[in-house]
Amino acid sequence: MSLSKSIIFSAIQPSGQLTLGNYIGTISHWMHMQDIYHCIYSIADLHAITVNQNKKLFRKNIFDTLALYLAVGVNPKKSIIFLQSEVQEHCQLNWILNCHTHFGELMRMTQFKKKSKVNSSNINIGLFNYPILMAADILLYQSHKVLVGKDQMQHVELVRDIAKRLNFLYGHIVTVPEVYIPNINGAKIMALLNPNNKMSKSDNNINNVIFLLDNHESILKKITRSVTDSDNKIFYDIKNKPGISNLLNIYSSLTGISIAVLENMLMNTTYKHFKLLVAQSISEKLLQLQEQFYYFKNKKNYLRDILDFGACVAKKQAKKTMKKIYNVLGL
Ligand code: TRP
Repeated sequence: MSLSKSIIFSAIQPSGQLTLGNYIGTISHWMHMQDIYHCIYSIADLHAITVNQNKKLFRKNIFDTLALYLAVGVNPKKSIIFLQSEVQEHCQLNWILNCHTHFGELMRMTQFKKKSKVNSSNINIGLFNYPILMAADILLYQSHKVLVGKDQMQHVELVRDIAKRLNFLYGHIVTVPEVYIPNINGAKIMALLNPNNKMSKSDNNINNVIFLLDNHESILKKITRSVTDSDNKIFYDIKNKPGISNLLNIYSSLTGISIAVLENMLMNTTYKHFKLLVAQSISEKLLQLQEQFYYFKNKKNYLRDILDFGACVAKKQAKKTMKKIYNVLGL
């Protein structure tokens, strides 16, 4: 790695099919990042086992996630792509960071509070510890920036606090990362039937979610049925018109046209027609993506090689940081 570019880290859990929210919020930005930064893109499988996984399906999801990374244009010659569980240093650093994080800090995490409600029969310590494993992911690589969706901002703030604490106690040993949210206004895509909640791949109702592998009929059906309001005027008002605002966000992100210009363009358009336009723009993007996805998905050996290579490169970097940390701790 040359020192001239800064390091950016991002990851996604392979806990299910990726969604339009993941695409717009994070992975659609990954390709362009490669020219500006040293990019490290991880598949966070250890994070995904905070809920029980079916082994076969989990393996499939891991490789599907990798194929999607490639489909959006992540290039293994430019970026490090690796599977989190294949670099053991993540768990090793996780323990050390556990000992530098306070119970109260984790108790404040809104995602933990939400997830424990949804997951009330399995509120395991991993779910609680989740942001500390993120801290290990990020700090191991001395990342300057962390690319996340808006919902992960609080976690990255915590990572910064942990990093500052380490540096305060032991001298400068880790880089304090900055959060990078690519498109702060459009970053959070909401559930279609309940636009006050985030679009999430683990939603129980699939009609809330556009999956990246959905076909045109299903996209059209889901968008047509999405919840809006009854005043038939298209403008952005997240509070009073969360459904229409969500569709405007999606449309603006996919077409690159600003919301203000869209509001003007769509002044005399009915909701019905608007929904058709949104569905078309999604289909166009996703069909392209799917073609690439299936191309890579079939290259099993190639995918395995990418992970092997990625883990090897990542490990080198991770070991360096671990050595430094062991050293200052007297381990
Ligand atoms: N928690 C992130 C998400 O669900 C995924 C993730 C795991 C991550 N480790 C990370 C993101 C480190 C950024 C940095 O979106």
